[in-house]
Amino acid sequence: MANLPFFWQTWVTGLIVLGLIFLLVLVLRIYFAKDEHEDEIVWDGDLKEGSAPAPFWWFWLITIALFYSVIYMIFYPSYGNYNGLFNWTVAQNYAESQAKIDDEYYKKLTLLQTSDELSLKKNPQAMRLASNIYAQNCATCHGKDAQGQDIFPNLIDQDWLWGDKSEQITHSIAQGRKAIMPAWGAVLEDQAVNQIAAYVKSVSTKDGQNDTKKHADGKAKYQQFCLGCHASNLTGKTLLGAADLSDDIWLYGGDLDAIKHSIKFGRRGVMPAHKDRLDALQIKLLTAWLQKSRIKTR
Ligand code: HEC
Ligand code: HEC
Repeated sequence: MANLPFFWQTWVTGLIVLGLIFLLVLVLRIYFAKDEHEDEIVWDGDLKEGSAPAPFWWFWLITIALFYSVIYMIFYPSYGNYNGLFNWTVAQNYAESQAKIDDEYYKKLTLLQTSDELSLKKNPQAMRLASNIYAQNCATCHGKDAQGQDIFPNLIDQDWLWGDKSEQITHSIAQGRKAIMPAWGAVLEDQAVNQIAAYVKSVSTKDGQNDTKKHADGKAKYQQFCLGCHASNLTGKTLLGAADLSDDIWLYGGDLDAIKHSIKFGRRGVMPAHKDRLDALQIKLLTAWLQKSRIKTR
């Protein structure tokens, strides 16, 4: 606190003391001085107009208030440079309570930061935090319950484009993902597209698998153009985010037309990187929360 110069210090102290004495004298006068105003007006014979003091308990109230202010001023800083016998300051009091709050906050934060995924999953407070982070940052695309919508994948099923291990999920969130399914319209004739699509569909629905002849052309072309990314058994490659085409779970639709569309025009799903928007702890919490929310079907 800034120090007052001596003159003002004296000025302020003087004013306070004078003010208090004035109040005291005033109160004593009101209640105990003899009433000198005999010349009161009388109305209607017995209705007198004078000045009577307020009820007597007011006297005690004011006396106690005065007494209290004096005691307060002795112990606490209340005028000029005087700090009070307790040497109490607002700034110090604030700093102390702030330190206490900070202490608890950082204790909790450190606990979360040093927790592994398993204990985070078991910590209801951490999971509530994670679900809030999800609602604020991810729900617009992946849906309220993380079950996906439109072209945004379900995050709690068993089908993962980029892998379901914690490191892979963390990577998806922090670094983002750019899927590149090339457009084959310029390379393949419509007939070839139809053949491949029919083959893919037959594998995913386990339909006509024994009829090897029926999809022989489609299979041959699949192996020529698609195998590099979607693997020979159509299960896809998580390293490339190439979808599993064998499980009948589709991001862009599983009817023949949608599959043909995927082949002809390609698909480019983009998961934006969140490493600049979320800190490491938030990403860790999200990963744990997604792992916990997963619907186990296996
Ligand atoms: C360069 C690698 C690559 C090649 C080659 C490739 N794909 Fe893809 N494919 C992908 C990726 C990556 C995705 C996921 C796209 C996304 O998530 O936006 C995908 C998605 C698809 C989908 C959509 C899956 C869904 O869930 O809706 C179909 C269908 C598909 N590919 C079929 C094919 C066929 C048929 C071929 C061969 C003609 C082929 N792909 C060749 C990388 C490839
Ligand atoms: C602007 C829309 C958008 C937002 C916001 C978004 N995502 Fe995504 N995310 C996508 C898309 C699109 C894909 C699919 C990319 C692809 O096709 O490969 C994806 C893919 C993912 C994947 C990989 C899924 C898989 O099958 O491997 C994970 C994990 C993921 N997102 C988590 C999150 C989390 C957690 C958040 C919130 C921090 C989030 N996303 C926010 C659009 C979004």
